[in-house]
Amino acid sequence: MSDNTIYPPILDACCGGRQFWFDKENPNVLFADCRVMPDKVVGRGKDARTRRCLPDRVHDFRAMEYPDETFQMVVFDPPHLFLGENSFMAQSYGSLDRETWRVDLTRGFGECFRVLKNGGVLIFKWNECDVPLSEVLKCTSQKPLFGHPSGKAQKTHWCAFWKAQEEE
Ligand SMILES: C[S@@+](CC[C@H](N)C(=O)[O-])C[C@H]1O[C@@H](n2cnc3c(N)ncnc32)[C@H](O)[C@@H]1O
Repeated sequence: MSDNTIYPPILDACCGGRQFWFDKENPNVLFADCRVMPDKVVGRGKDARTRRCLPDRVHDFRAMEYPDETFQMVVFDPPHLFLGENSFMAQSYGSLDRETWRVDLTRGFGECFRVLKNGGVLIFKWNECDVPLSEVLKCTSQKPLFGHPSGKAQKTHWCAFWKAQEEE
């Protein structure tokens, strides 16, 4: 796979509302997601929030169109909860499919590593409310270098992977 497009150095493979980005318009990042949602109020009463998902590029992280070894960094924060499609959380963060999540995330990891340059870094975020991190990490043969749990319940984990340089 090759094309002549000049891509920014960083890919956010499922950007959603870009909530964790300090600069949500960072020109060094290609913000991508499978859905487009203009400003929408989700939730009710005190839980009501305005959410949006306006990616630079619509794609499916299971089958991306970018050439091999395009990005210096890939950020992968896939849905992590089994939810009904119409739930407030699903509209904000997407939903994990109970039947296909292992295949979906295995393909997602595979694609993230394919489009990552050798020597590049993959940042993976996971919340283990429904699926433990140890199970999700079975979806890739790559091993994270280090990780960091966060949040009050310590259920959100940030992991950094490095795609080793290939031997000449
Ligand atoms: C946990 S949210 C990401 C939140 C985001 N990191 C933020 O800071 O706001 C997961 C996102 O993955 C997207 N998603 C789900 N399946 C996808 C797929 N197959 N390809 C690309 N994006 C997908 C959802 O639409 C959702 O926006």
